[in-house]
Amino acid sequence: MKHLLPVSLRVNGEPYDLLIPPWRTLLEVLRENLSLTGAKRSCQEGQCGTCTVLIDRKPINSCLYLAVEAQDKEILTIEGLARSAEVLHPLQRAFAERGAIQCGFCTPGLILAAKAFLEENPNPSEDEIRRAVVGHLCRCTGYFQIIEAILAAAREMAGKGAQVGH
Ligand code: FES
Ligand code: FES
Repeated sequence: MKHLLPVSLRVNGEPYDLLIPPWRTLLEVLRENLSLTGAKRSCQEGQCGTCTVLIDRKPINSCLYLAVEAQDKEILTIEGLARSAEVLHPLQRAFAERGAIQCGFCTPGLILAAKAFLEENPNPSEDEIRRAVVGHLCRCTGYFQIIEAILAAAREMAGKGAQVGH
């Protein structure tokens, strides 16, 4: 069909062959073609972070990223993070246990951004975490619980236990 391009994407380890307009964003493809609705649509101009997914382990705003650009790259969305429904990623567990989720709208983007950040910096300070989540807007939590959850997950992942106190 006119104006449609064949695109092969790899999302959460699964291959998808699609026919899409070249201007379709990755966020649109994830949500509307693949029904992966964890990445959220909000500002659509790179300001809020709710649409964050990982491409080749780096966070990107999928509202500004064309799906055709993601060809031959590894895309990870929040749906692909947990090992299973029973075994959550330490970040997902820490967010749930520490009250870092209220409405949950910002949560998928924050968790994926935190995952990429902790791979680069497995032993961060609170200040480093604060800087890492700049660009992710949360209207509900006041950020304290989010910072605490990322710190707790970092400590758990580094094998230090999750003893983060108030
Ligand atoms: S919807 Fe992409 S940054 Fe806000
Ligand atoms: S938990 Fe509601 S926007 Fe962050």
